[in-house]
Amino acid sequence: MTAMHAPTRTEDAIALDSRNVAHNYAPLPVVAAHADGAWITDVEGRRYLDCLAAYSAVNFGHRHPDIIAAAHAQLDRVTLVSRAFHAEPLAPFCAALAGLCDKDMVLPMNSGAEAVESGIKVARKWGHDVKGVPADTSNIIVAHNNFHGRTTTIISFSDDETARRGFGPYTPGFRSVPFGDADALAAAIDDHTVAVLLEPIQGEAGIIVPPDDYLQRVRALCTQHNVLMIADEIQSGLARTGATFACDHWGVAPDVYLLGKALGGGVVPLSAVVADRDVLGVLHPGEHGSTFGGNPLAAAIGHTVVELLATGEFQRRAAELGEVLHARLTTLVGRGVLSVRGKGLWAGVDIDPVHGTGKQISLRLAERGVLVKDTHGSTLRFAPPIVVTEDEITWAVQQLAEVLA
Ligand SMILES: Cc1ncc(COP(=O)(O)O)c(C=O)c1O
Repeated sequence: MTAMHAPTRTEDAIALDSRNVAHNYAPLPVVAAHADGAWITDVEGRRYLDCLAAYSAVNFGHRHPDIIAAAHAQLDRVTLVSRAFHAEPLAPFCAALAGLCDKDMVLPMNSGAEAVESGIKVARKWGHDVKGVPADTSNIIVAHNNFHGRTTTIISFSDDETARRGFGPYTPGFRSVPFGDADALAAAIDDHTVAVLLEPIQGEAGIIVPPDDYLQRVRALCTQHNVLMIADEIQSGLARTGATFACDHWGVAPDVYLLGKALGGGVVPLSAVVADRDVLGVLHPGEHGSTFGGNPLAAAIGHTVVELLATGEFQRRAAELGEVLHARLTTLVGRGVLSVRGKGLWAGVDIDPVHGTGKQISLRLAERGVLVKDTHGSTLRFAPPIVVTEDEITWAVQQLAEVLA
């Protein structure tokens, strides 16, 4: 059904958007009206294979029936009481998510950036209360080219000038070292270091997979120096790479998981900080919170997401289809593609700039019914919903081949 007053022509919809929606994004000229599984239908009835999956927030496909059923059922019961009261679905969701992560406790929040902010606060409080770092002197080590969100603190340790310029003054207390360089990380740790905050595979940077021994060395350094290892699995986690967490590929268990995106089933914003009691137990009433964090609707949806992950089906599918995606994309290396990186159903494809910018290639793919988004100029990110089929992957890569030809 068309929403009331919503324009039914692409140009009109985009003109209205341009007048009334802040210009903090530059969307492709596709106006979604409906979506199902791996496919999006626009206001004029054109269909597109979604190869972005809302930056991995739609890992389980658009409107997965179990998730939608859980949402409907919860909408008919209770949707929000705030954390001033208990609500039925929250504790079972947190118990299930803690179990999935093999940790004790969950701090529920909403957006990914909020989970990162919360993780930073927990690490600083842990450093002060448990490690004994004097007040206001702690540091957290991060990686060059990180992407952890858009709040003022998070952009303070970003090296993306577009994300930073004009938004200062910045929050102190962060040190940035090259991603993948464990020696540089070791050299940056001192007695005031409370945490290392990393994406195990860097997403926005272009799906950058670190050297094979990196995360294990980071884990060992954190243990040796009594520093929390915080894995931002907001984009890499929850089956995207063919495992529940990207860290699993290297057999590494961080002290703290930051989760978001797909945790909300593609329906609601739901994020979480997940850790053991000796870490998350540093928070006491009044020290942190969010009115919507862990609301009953989100908790019911998140619980269903954890149940879907507990079957292992999505992890298996992402691993198997990931092989197909990478094999197909690799055939284009030397035919307009410079290189292909990634893991599971997550690929960064560097386009030879002679064929155009990433944005231009994305526009041409959209005309052929394939939706991807560029990152860092000439890199395309392929991250379809995990319900995509092998034939659909083959077809999408064929479209890229034809665009580059
Ligand atoms: C690794 C990572 N962390 C955090 C975020 C921020 O999440 P949100 O946009 O929900 O605030 C993102 C978003 O792309 C991300 O990729």
